[in-house]
Amino acid sequence: MDSMHWPSESELDVIRERVAEISGREAKEVRVVISPYRICPLGAHIDHQGGTVLAMTVNKGILLGFVPSHDSQVLITSGQFKGEVRFSLDEVQLPRYKRSSSNFHEECSWGNYARGALYALQKRNNHLKQGITGIIYGTDGLDSSGLSSSAAVGIAYLLAFESANNLTVTPSENIEYDRLIENEYLGLRNGILDQSAILLSAYGCLTYMDCKTKVHKLIRPPELKEDPTKEMKNKFKILLAFSGLKQALTTNSGYNNRVEECQEAARVLLKATGNDGAEPILSSVKLEDYEKHKLELEVTHAKRAKHYFSENERVIKGVEAWASGNMEEFGKLISASGLSSIENYECGCEPLIHLYEILLKAPGVYGARFSGAGFRGCCIAFVDADKALEAEFYIKNEYPKFQPELASQMNAETVLICDAGDCARVI
Ligand code: GLA
Repeated sequence: MDSMHWPSESELDVIRERVAEISGREAKEVRVVISPYRICPLGAHIDHQGGTVLAMTVNKGILLGFVPSHDSQVLITSGQFKGEVRFSLDEVQLPRYKRSSSNFHEECSWGNYARGALYALQKRNNHLKQGITGIIYGTDGLDSSGLSSSAAVGIAYLLAFESANNLTVTPSENIEYDRLIENEYLGLRNGILDQSAILLSAYGCLTYMDCKTKVHKLIRPPELKEDPTKEMKNKFKILLAFSGLKQALTTNSGYNNRVEECQEAARVLLKATGNDGAEPILSSVKLEDYEKHKLELEVTHAKRAKHYFSENERVIKGVEAWASGNMEEFGKLISASGLSSIENYECGCEPLIHLYEILLKAPGVYGARFSGAGFRGCCIAFVDADKALEAEFYIKNEYPKFQPELASQMNAETVLICDAGDCARVI
């Protein structure tokens, strides 16, 4: 599992056999969606404001083995969770908040993403005829909170339904479909960072995404500029350090409040410049107008706006650093982004702040920050490949000193060393 090549042939064979057993079909008929987890080294919490982000995937994530079911029935089991999810494609899916408790499928809430994928496809007038019979797995022994497992799962179902029904859908359309799952079906007001990273990334590259214009590009490191198919001799590893706080990112985690605070800051700044008609997000405000009027913002809103504008600037510098192979500079920007998330965006929690501080002192670490929203889950670090094991040892030793209770309850990996991944696909 720790090899650069994820998933391994033996993992795929196990999945094909399991789906063959459940469906009564042959293993060679089984298709598998590979949907990797994402990290976001720079551009934290500015996607929902139309800012720019830098993301990539890691070589861990979700695998969904399936066969088209030849009728409209969907049957899914999980490698991690109990129960099975069954529904028909003919059922009209309603957003969670519109469901009555009688048809709210709490017993298998992990199946909500499959229903959410159907919701998104129905909403955009895709007529599905063939359901799927399948099994979904997350990378073993890995607590995926903070790595955007929800987008990875949502995308896995979208790709499976599309493949079973021979639909040709572009990555941009799937970015929008996954946004419908998250924003409308689940009610989280997040941006498009997660699904863009998962759908657009390419091995070894950074994905740059302008979340307002939706323009994206892949930033290659110097060693891949001449031959993008080359396997990189990585100077770095991606280190994931888990806090032990596992709750999923939900509508009441504080995330939606921050989005509202950013919007309020945008409203004040737009009003001050006579642009009240513009969409109230911070990307509608010009940098010079922010500089001119920032003192008119009340304290909380001033902090959120400071995070937004400084983070956009770090993204621009990050592109240069990555393209020139300057890992030291890239790492410094990541750590500065982490600090701004703590001081200006105020989205961390004590265990994650402890982890962030430990990571900054660990041997060989170029830079570190919270992964994802920062309310739970993990921190990421880019670390010198030759010192990654030393860093792992240091973190495993230090974290329990600060968070003994959380550390003692953790039964999954506490630190994981990964490589860069590729984009989501069906094989
Ligand atoms: C979560 C959200 C993303 C993004 C990040 C923070 O992962 O789903 O849209 O806002 O947090 O950068």
